Amino acid sequence: MSGGTVASQTQADREEFQADLAADNLQPLWDIVGRIAARAPSRGGVPIHWPWGGLRDHAMRAGNLITAEEAERRVLVLENPSFAGEGRATSSLYAGIQLILPGEIAPSHKHTASALRLIMEGEGAYTAVDGERVVMSPGDFVVTPSNTFHDHGNETDAPVMWLDGLDVFVVNLLNAPFGEEYPESAQPISRPDGYSLERFGRGMLPHGFVRSEARSPLFWWPYHHTRAALDGMRREEQADPSLGLRMDYIDPTSGQSPFKTMTASMSLFPAGYRGVPYRAISGAVMTVVEGAGTVRVGDETWHVTKNDVFVVPSWNWHSFTAEEDLVIFGFSDEVLQRHLGFWREERDAAAQIGIRA
Ligand SMILES: [Fe+2]
Repeated sequence: MSGGTVASQTQADREEFQADLAADNLQPLWDIVGRIAARAPSRGGVPIHWPWGGLRDHAMRAGNLITAEEAERRVLVLENPSFAGEGRATSSLYAGIQLILPGEIAPSHKHTASALRLIMEGEGAYTAVDGERVVMSPGDFVVTPSNTFHDHGNETDAPVMWLDGLDVFVVNLLNAPFGEEYPESAQPISRPDGYSLERFGRGMLPHGFVRSEARSPLFWWPYHHTRAALDGMRREEQADPSLGLRMDYIDPTSGQSPFKTMTASMSLFPAGYRGVPYRAISGAVMTVVEGAGTVRVGDETWHVTKNDVFVVPSWNWHSFTAEEDLVIFGFSDEVLQRHLGFWREERDAAAQIGIRA
């Protein structure tokens, strides 16, 4: 037969062949290659914005209907409509709004997935990790590394809410989930509140410290430290044309992200900032910690204010405009994509030239 000539085959022959293949658990790649090896990213979900007013109302309503203990975690999952029923915010990230009412405990458990929290409302609730409590305030960043027992409690007289972020879909992709409840609702406390920050958050390490576990011994980054770092950066450095003044959270014993799967950062966009459109291969979930501004993602434009949450899906052009000093927390799968060698980012060169002219 000469190359490329298959005229003797009929459609019926092909269909019969496909049926025979399917019966033996085989698929012709030429039929499915577009689905399994796309030429460009297109399945990261859609841009989506949740204004805080609606989120808070729904969370408080959940507070009337179910206890934190009954729910194990009283969380409203931020679900991207592209992944209806799957609970994904982006293709790889989970995000939720968690509420703990006065007197409640979210019982102690552990799981393979790593979790991060960004406190949105309420002062004085605690997270306990590995025998230590931290008392949380708005803007604080708290992590619970993979397989560490953690519980939350609210001994104040006001509701406490935060943004949860987990790498659970990476865990599930690899079919690696394990989980366990602690026998008591609260784990025993063996160290003073906030001790890990004293020990590991001062640019020093205890003499003889050996990093034996691939996880951060620091799990609380108070907002007043973060904000001071951003203010210092602002005094001395030019803002990035797209990313503003951005600081990434690190494990002080590795110099790397506290997680192997997620990068978390806090960015300051000074009043009057007009960002150049930018896109990266990492999908991200972001929330406004202070200020107000405009965020453009793909074809969407949103006015954002404190505690609004939004999704920037992978490879979507986006930009930030700040009416007043705008502080935005974000988490993404950047560190994982960099580690895997997938990293790509682009700035809109034409817009950049226009702004600098
Ligand atoms: Fe958990």
